[in-house]
Amino acid sequence: MPAHALTDIELQTIAQKAAEAKAKAYCPNSNFRVGACLITTDGQYISGANIENASYPVGTCAERVAFGTAIVSGHRSFKAIAVATDIKPGASPCGMCRQFMREFSPPGFPVYMYDKDGEYKVVTIGELLPDSFGPEDLQ
Ligand code: THU
Repeated sequence: MPAHALTDIELQTIAQKAAEAKAKAYCPNSNFRVGACLITTDGQYISGANIENASYPVGTCAERVAFGTAIVSGHRSFKAIAVATDIKPGASPCGMCRQFMREFSPPGFPVYMYDKDGEYKVVTIGELLPDSFGPEDLQ
C-alpha cells in the first residue's frame, strides 16, 4: 500500500486529467501517446504529455513535462502521479523518468499506471527505483 493513498475523488480526478493530457501529446514520431497528471500535497493538479522532436533524442516524456511544469510553478511536494497510455497493461515509466521523479518523491510515492481501458496498476517510486541516489546523498 503506497504511503499516500488518494481519496476516490482524487484518484478519479488524476485519472481523468492524465487521460485529457494524453489527448494533447505531441508524438508524430512514435504515435505513442502518454499523458501524466500530478497531484500536489495541497491538492492541485498539474498535467503533462510527451513532446517529441524531429531530432529524436530531444523528445521528452510526459512524466518529466508534468514534474517540470509543477516545479517551475513553485510546487515542491506531491502526493501521486498518474500516467495514461493506449496500451494494456499500462506503461511503466522509463528509467530516466524514474530518476527524475525520485528527486521530488519519497520512496512511498505512488505511480498510478493507467491502461487503454482506464484500469490501473499502482507501484511506488521505491519499487520502480530501489537503492536509488537522491538529493539527500549530496552532502
Ligand atoms: N514515453 C513517456 O512519455 N512516458 C513513459 O512512461 C514511456 C514513454 C514517451 C516517450 C516517447 O515520446 C514515446 O512515449 C515512445 O517512447
